[in-house]
Amino acid sequence: MNSKYDYHGKLISIPEAVEKVKSGDRIGVAMAASEPSGLLNELANHKNRLKDVHTWICLPMRSYDYANLPEMDGHFFVENWFYGVFDRKVHSQGRMSYIPNNLHRAASDKLHAVDGKLNIFWGTATPPDERGYMSLSLCLVIEKELMAAADLVVLEINENLPWTLGDTQIHISEVDFLVENHVPLYELPSVAPTETEQKIGEYIAELIDDGATLQLGIGGIPNAITHYLRNHKDLGIHTEMFNDGMVDLYEAGAVTNRRKSIYKGKMVGAFALGTQKLYDFVNNNIGVEFLQGKITNNPNVVGQNYKMISVNTALQVDIFGQVCSQSIGYKHFSGTGGQLDTHRGAQLSPGGRGIIALRSTAKNGEISTIVPTLSPGSEVTVPSQCVDTIVTEYGIAELRGRNLLERAKALINIAHPDMRESIAAEVRNLGIVPRL
Ligand code: COA
Repeated sequence: MNSKYDYHGKLISIPEAVEKVKSGDRIGVAMAASEPSGLLNELANHKNRLKDVHTWICLPMRSYDYANLPEMDGHFFVENWFYGVFDRKVHSQGRMSYIPNNLHRAASDKLHAVDGKLNIFWGTATPPDERGYMSLSLCLVIEKELMAAADLVVLEINENLPWTLGDTQIHISEVDFLVENHVPLYELPSVAPTETEQKIGEYIAELIDDGATLQLGIGGIPNAITHYLRNHKDLGIHTEMFNDGMVDLYEAGAVTNRRKSIYKGKMVGAFALGTQKLYDFVNNNIGVEFLQGKITNNPNVVGQNYKMISVNTALQVDIFGQVCSQSIGYKHFSGTGGQLDTHRGAQLSPGGRGIIALRSTAKNGEISTIVPTLSPGSEVTVPSQCVDTIVTEYGIAELRGRNLLERAKALINIAHPDMRESIAAEVRNLGIVPRL
């Protein structure tokens, strides 16, 4: 390493880095596959000397003792922009709270709430090059904004991280301390789509023209869609999250980014989450541009794309067209992420469309996800006045600009056939659409 940039002068051990945390501190943490797992694992070992330390996290991938163990109560409190599988339980125990957000403003709104005061940022990066530059690699959603606000910046250097391009560079002089933790990257397994997901994928593919630009959200359905787009031509990618399916589309020749109206010739996104195949693809790839979430997800930027199609997933949709993707009744499940950002952006785009896809039933077919009214406690992620196109395995419901009678008919038509009559009866009984 070039001594001019003092890599070794900044290098400390992981316990030494965590020693720098004080009671009452706020720690902003890099998200998803960029999570600094060494620092987060170490935090629980410092419990006895720490009180009321707040971490700000988003879409955590691993289980950490400091967050998950009941004896951490009073020592650590987690503020979370997007829940992962472990977080639902911690939430119910009162040691974690959700931060409602639209992802392009997640960092700036949170900083606003604390008058810009963030004590520490923990992130991950590649080893520096001979000029002292590092790549923030797999995630740029909130990281640069948090880093700029923090009094102390500590990066975990991992030689397994890909060197990604775009706005990912950071110079070693901007960092206070470095630790090393060369762990394998977190991989989100690529699961083969179910029959239902395939059907939904086929319907959505019908709505996508050659030359369109795509955002695909998180979950099984968005990945399934890519399978049905392999024969499309000149698709572009402008997304919050890069996934494995996008690599398949690129390799099949369906994604060229040639007809994009902004960032022509480049796939644009804020973070990558998938398997090693995706991480290898984004490594040093001049055709892949990582930009900050405040840019990729800004609806006014998304909307500058030609024929922008945003596809996100939901848990429940009611007859008004209200979409809930983040809770099951009162139980907080995930988050909004960039759902409304990219949905609104797509609607601003000439020829664009905001698609919400969901299976028509849940709980092994016992309940309908198309409902007369959302379950009590549901947190709306797309309000009825912004809803556009809903897709299930039974078809497509176009709701944009439609009245309640039209919406009710279109939605019941894509509900499970066994449930259509009971939904209609309740919609009439409740007086939502008396003459349905
Ligand atoms: N009522 C009760 N339970 C429901 C339900 C409903 N209406 N809909 C789904 N469920 C249950 C399922 O049965 C499943 O339970 P299980 O894990 O015990 O089988 C669980 O909830 C998850 O549902 P599933 O449909 O499999 O989720 P998914 O992995 O496809 O993810 C979302 C779907 C909506 C949770 C996910 O896409 C999400 O969090 N989106 C948030 C916002 C977003 O899209 N942002 C953009 C990101 S780039």
